[in-house]
Amino acid sequence: MYKSAFGALDGCFYLMTRTSERSRTDAYLDHVNPQWVKLLTLLEMNVGYESCVGTELYTTEGRRILDFLSGYCVHNAGHNHPAIVSALKEELDKSGPVMLQSNVPELAGELAERLCDLAGGGTSKVFFASSGSEGIEAAIKFARVYTGRTGLLACERAFHGLTCGALSLTDGEYWRRGFGPLLPDVTMVPFGDLQALAIELASRRHAAFFVEPIQAEGGIQIPREDYLREAQQLCRRHGTLMVADEVQTGMFRTGPFLASHHFGIQPDIVVLAKALSGGLVPVSAVLMRDDVHASVFSSFKRSIVHASTFSENSLSMRAGLATLDVLENECLGDRALRLGAGLREQLVDALSGYEMVKEVRGKGMLSGIEFTAPQRLALRVPFEAFAKIHPAMFGQILVMRLFRDSAILTQICGNNFMVLKVAPPLVVSESQIAEFVSAAREVVELAHHPGPFWSEALGLARRAVAS
Ligand SMILES: Cc1ncc(COP(=O)(O)O)c(C=O)c1O
Repeated sequence: MYKSAFGALDGCFYLMTRTSERSRTDAYLDHVNPQWVKLLTLLEMNVGYESCVGTELYTTEGRRILDFLSGYCVHNAGHNHPAIVSALKEELDKSGPVMLQSNVPELAGELAERLCDLAGGGTSKVFFASSGSEGIEAAIKFARVYTGRTGLLACERAFHGLTCGALSLTDGEYWRRGFGPLLPDVTMVPFGDLQALAIELASRRHAAFFVEPIQAEGGIQIPREDYLREAQQLCRRHGTLMVADEVQTGMFRTGPFLASHHFGIQPDIVVLAKALSGGLVPVSAVLMRDDVHASVFSSFKRSIVHASTFSENSLSMRAGLATLDVLENECLGDRALRLGAGLREQLVDALSGYEMVKEVRGKGMLSGIEFTAPQRLALRVPFEAFAKIHPAMFGQILVMRLFRDSAILTQICGNNFMVLKVAPPLVVSESQIAEFVSAAREVVELAHHPGPFWSEALGLARRAVAS
């Protein structure tokens, strides 16, 4: 905590000078999250950003960084897309009823209609919220009311968010430890395992099966071609709703509007968030079947039985509509399919033959590079030493080096530390992709030699332990 060294009369002077006297992140460090500042600093990623445009981020020091993370699939339309920015400015200039909460927000109807059209299938109603987790919470409530059941099914390695309900469906000790008791009656089944799913569903206790059609934080896991279709049939047979969490995979990230479309499924509930806002205003949307919606809003007395203050606010709705315009008009889904396949081909060419590269996989513009422990003794010894300090250590060194040495921003997956996520905005250019591939090859080459990669990693490990 910082305190004014002056009395009350000097307060103004203090306010005027404190920003220049203090470093850029001191107030954040004191009042928001010091551990996050420490971590970014340790990884040499604590830089100031002045502007972010398309796929490029410009730091206060004049560096240009390529964004191959997209804020975890938020920036599908690219950073600060001018059409979305100007739509928001127009909306603000209207001085309209942004959050009156006593009217019928027409923009919400317009956005809901477009989302349902794009989703196809049987979803015809939408509940709007402000984050992916809040969308998952809503899906839990709607599924429970509709089925009259309490049980919930999710997949191992799943990531559905960090509020208590969503966290109950999220796998991983790291996320869950200390926050319990979480929701009772939640069962995890292995992703891709139809037999385990069938056994659970047969109990007829479960209101919903929550599934990411492609697990993102789980390591860009793509299920077998028939898994989701058969899972859907099983759910229908046993009266369990299928909830597709498309928070990362939706909004054309993998090519089609929903990743569910790759697999020919029509989920009963679809949760969208992240890229729906154009990266500018928080928003999420829970698309659902008419009868599921009607089970909650079953009479006018229950017309606000599930609601949220910021739901349907006109800035979020306008951002959503403008984002859909951009994604559709610029054919960014097709672009994701075409350039994403090219990106993976180039990565395979550049990285095959390196013993620590296990697989390059993905769909559209959501890819992952999976690494594995080395066999060669000279590499195995340091690798195992780092893994003992922290299982994410190897991946974080890759991330750090890509950022520092090649000006590329990416991250490892939150529930699978051996997978480097590759998810640039869908507007990424072919030359930016080539730049990424070359940087990835350089860092992988470096990691395959005993030398600077590992000695620097040791230094980082020591600093991490010390702090
Ligand atoms: C698949 C998935 N679902 C849900 C969430 C939670 O979204 P939010 O962080 O907006 O609450 C995330 C966040 O990364 C996600 O990846």
